[in-house]
Amino acid sequence: MRKPRLEGAPVAVVTGGARRLGRHLCEVLAARGYRVVVIYRASADDAESLATEIGEGGGTARALQTDIGVAAEVHEAFDNIAAHEGRVDLLINNVGNYNPQDVTLLDPLVWDATLATNLSGAYYCCFHAITLMPNGGQIISIGMAGLEGIRANRRGADYYVSKTGLLVLTRALASGYATRQIRVNMVSPGQLDNSVDLPPPDLIGLEVPLSRAGTVQDISQAVEYLIDATYVTGANIDVAGGYRL
Ligand SMILES: NC(=O)c1ccc[n+]([C@@H]2O[C@H](COP(=O)([O-])OP(=O)(O)OC[C@H]3O[C@@H](n4cnc5c(N)ncnc54)[C@H](OP(=O)(O)O)[C@@H]3O)[C@@H](O)[C@H]2O)c1
Repeated sequence: MRKPRLEGAPVAVVTGGARRLGRHLCEVLAARGYRVVVIYRASADDAESLATEIGEGGGTARALQTDIGVAAEVHEAFDNIAAHEGRVDLLINNVGNYNPQDVTLLDPLVWDATLATNLSGAYYCCFHAITLMPNGGQIISIGMAGLEGIRANRRGADYYVSKTGLLVLTRALASGYATRQIRVNMVSPGQLDNSVDLPPPDLIGLEVPLSRAGTVQDISQAVEYLIDATYVTGANIDVAGGYRL
């Protein structure tokens, strides 16, 4: 049963919210009573259908087209949120583009695009969201690894650098904004069951000690824990079945 629609209900902004993990997180947050702003770049139909689905279920959501890798577009998006919702209680930095190439073939343009979207884009969103959190709030970024989990990986260096940077940013913001009661945390999936890198089921145990791929529900469980965990900030929760042990 969804919570009733409330004027002044908390506001969650989810980047990359139209599809896959982001879509699931939007559904979970709407069911918790958040008014959800679904940031998308190209998936307009998916974003609109999600907003409709949430509305029909008694929740509140709207889609907002923004390329988060472009600083001016993010500024405009949060101006729009300030005008419509008036506040942000929770930002989920879910966008994370992964197009792995061997590091010896990595094109500088690809490097720039990955860093712009996965890291700079998340920072732009944090910067503007915080201005709409005068009475505290939360940021949860979807990462890939704790610093201790980083190992040499020839494929996807740009991606791993962006996600490591996101963790450094998470910790810095957690420290910097704690006195304003803004908590900043990260959840790091391992191999989700929709991953482009997923090994076949009979081999997954070689990579993932718990012998199965993760699900979007595994990730939202950790996100919901962080939402409720009022004494946790600066943390990264590995939700990866032991993938990086
Ligand atoms: N899937 C996995 O196995 C796995 C494993 C570890 C970590 N993760 C992390 O989990 C998160 C979600 O993964 P996913 O596989 O569900 O993501 P995804 O499908 O690759 O991307 C999610 C959405 O990001 C949006 N996006 C990309 N660039 C954007 C931009 N510049 N501006 C605005 N939106 C942009 C896209 O929106 P449009 O469709 O609207 O363009 C896309 O639908 C990512 O951070 C990823 O790194 C995933």
